[in-house]
Amino acid sequence: MLTQTDIFSLCRSALGSPSYEAEGVAIFKGDCLEMMRELPSEIINLTITSPPYNIGKEYEQKMSVAQYANWCESWIKEIHRLAKNDGTFWLNLGYFEVPEKGRAIPISYLLWDKVPFYLMQEIVWNYGAGVACKSMFSPRNEKFLWYVKDMVSHCFNLDEVRDPDVKYPNQKKNGKLKCNPLGKNPTDVWQFPKVTSGRDRSSDERTPHPAQFPIAVIDRIIKCSSNEGDVILDPFIGSGTTAEAALRNGRKVIGFEINSNYVEIASYRIENYFQTKRFITTQTELALSI
Ligand SMILES: C[S@@+](CC[C@H](N)C(=O)[O-])C[C@H]1O[C@@H](n2cnc3c(N)ncnc32)[C@H](O)[C@@H]1O
Repeated sequence: MLTQTDIFSLCRSALGSPSYEAEGVAIFKGDCLEMMRELPSEIINLTITSPPYNIGKEYEQKMSVAQYANWCESWIKEIHRLAKNDGTFWLNLGYFEVPEKGRAIPISYLLWDKVPFYLMQEIVWNYGAGVACKSMFSPRNEKFLWYVKDMVSHCFNLDEVRDPDVKYPNQKKNGKLKCNPLGKNPTDVWQFPKVTSGRDRSSDERTPHPAQFPIAVIDRIIKCSSNEGDVILDPFIGSGTTAEAALRNGRKVIGFEINSNYVEIASYRIENYFQTKRFITTQTELALSI
């Protein structure tokens, strides 16, 4: 069986030197589809990603709806091939306009028959801030699709992600606590604020990347769908959110990103994370030695 270290050296020999590398993390610059095709099968425990939505963002090349769906199918197939047999895939998708069909079509509708994984559940990520619409309801959700390779054998650490905000924690039935003392199941609707920008309202975690997902959502996914030391892949890593969340949780992470500015943003962010971690460790040691 391959160890995590083997997987990193395997990536290096297949893809060359990463653009950024540190303990437990490697980011490779380039097209994720081409790079994934170079890697051997069944090496990844968990893939989490948010691809371009084909909505005209600065990092996108506009495609027709059919081209976009076919492109998604080809990289999702690679993610499936790279996933271990008990591996998991979390896919964040939004909405786009399909000419003559609809103004806000969930992208997942287009991919329904193109994904070789087994769909466990669709999670609705609900957030507060966003655009205010006049001719339709203001959109306040995106989807996280939770896929597994094997419908029975896969990681699901519910106790790691229980919600401790229980209204009646001491309520009993037949002398037994009704609610799990670790908290309640967080349900399939998750409320986490979006990463905001702007003067006086910018999130602490904001980077210059235009489409960052929040660490809190990825943190929950990593905790429930992987174990310490597991290898996580994000083929569209952008500002490096998946990398930071993975490292915070003691996981290893491999990322791909086509845009060199974003690779730089992600590298800077991860370096910052390590620096802060070193600082906290030194301060704690110092406090304990006094
Ligand atoms: C929605 S953003 C991901 C943002 C990321 N989740 C974060 O929190 O920062 C999609 C990213 O995919 C990158 N990208 C687009 N096409 C790509 C490709 N073919 N291979 C690798 N990366 C690509 C874009 O440059 C962009 O940074």
